[in-house]
Amino acid sequence: MNIETAAAAMSLTDLRPQPADILADVLDGLARTPKQLPSKYFYDAHGSSLFEAITQLPEYYLTRTELALLEQRMPDIAAAVGANAHVVEYGSGSGRKTELLLQGLQQPVAYTPVEISRSVLLASTQRMAGELPAVEMLPVCADFTQAIALPPPSRSARRTLMFFPGSTLGNFTRPHAVAILRAMHQTMGNDGRALIGIDLDKDPALIDAAYNDSAGVTARFTLNLLARLNREIGSNFNLDQFQHRASYVRERGRIETFLVSLIDQDVRVGGQLFHFDRDEAMQVEYSHKYTDPGFSALAAEAGLEVAQHWNDARDWFGLRLLRPIAPGQRLEAAG
Ligand code: AVJ
Repeated sequence: MNIETAAAAMSLTDLRPQPADILADVLDGLARTPKQLPSKYFYDAHGSSLFEAITQLPEYYLTRTELALLEQRMPDIAAAVGANAHVVEYGSGSGRKTELLLQGLQQPVAYTPVEISRSVLLASTQRMAGELPAVEMLPVCADFTQAIALPPPSRSARRTLMFFPGSTLGNFTRPHAVAILRAMHQTMGNDGRALIGIDLDKDPALIDAAYNDSAGVTARFTLNLLARLNREIGSNFNLDQFQHRASYVRERGRIETFLVSLIDQDVRVGGQLFHFDRDEAMQVEYSHKYTDPGFSALAAEAGLEVAQHWNDARDWFGLRLLRPIAPGQRLEAAG
């Protein structure tokens, strides 16, 4: 089955960003000081495959640590979530974690990956459909920073489980992360649960190395953003004249990634010229690392609390099961 047939067969809900939206976001970011580009546009087909390569790097501990943790704790997670869940995943990725989750839960009724890359979404949903024939596939192609109306499964679900692995939440600044958790809360309802993967604060040298791999894959991943923009919105960034720079800033608990201009140059975007000074750093990505109190406070701002938490043996990476704070408790907290 080709991808278009698959799209039709799986009733793809397609809300993917159009060139005009991308251009508007980019122009908005370039007008700021310092200049910024949105990291969500890293994930075109090539960017997604470069990210897959990152997950295999010896320095990038996140994915393999989370996979092992999920595998180890799946029985506890299944018991906490219960039977017949509608699983909604933000960012469908390559689906290895999803497979573990859907195979480990008790009779999940449906799976809704929400993914910005249409090609990745279709490929992974198609593969998942083959491996999990009992689970109804209801993919949605959208930017998950917005609230989503869930496609209703044909067999009704006991509860919605939002699945947000990979520490993807860490790419968002605090206000945006709160907004995403609120949108999740709204989508899953008061009986819902959210299973979130978070990268934990640790030795800065370990974190730094994960974003500055010796093979240079992360640098290619960052620079691919410029290639994508050139192709999709007709900008003329010269990839040879920008350099990847990432470092862990402990006070802010995050990796800050920049593309640094190697020369004085002008770049044309949407008919406007933008000047870059030599050594000017354009901010392109944050990857926040969490402490337990910090993450609980973040969740609380979205009306959610940590029901269960699991870390790997080295406390490098964590899974948190969130549930809505009961209305009575919310009142107490407010009063
Ligand atoms: C997929 C967003 C979790 O921030 O660690 C990997 C993306 N960027 N290397 C991360 C990424 C550079 C990754 N997330």
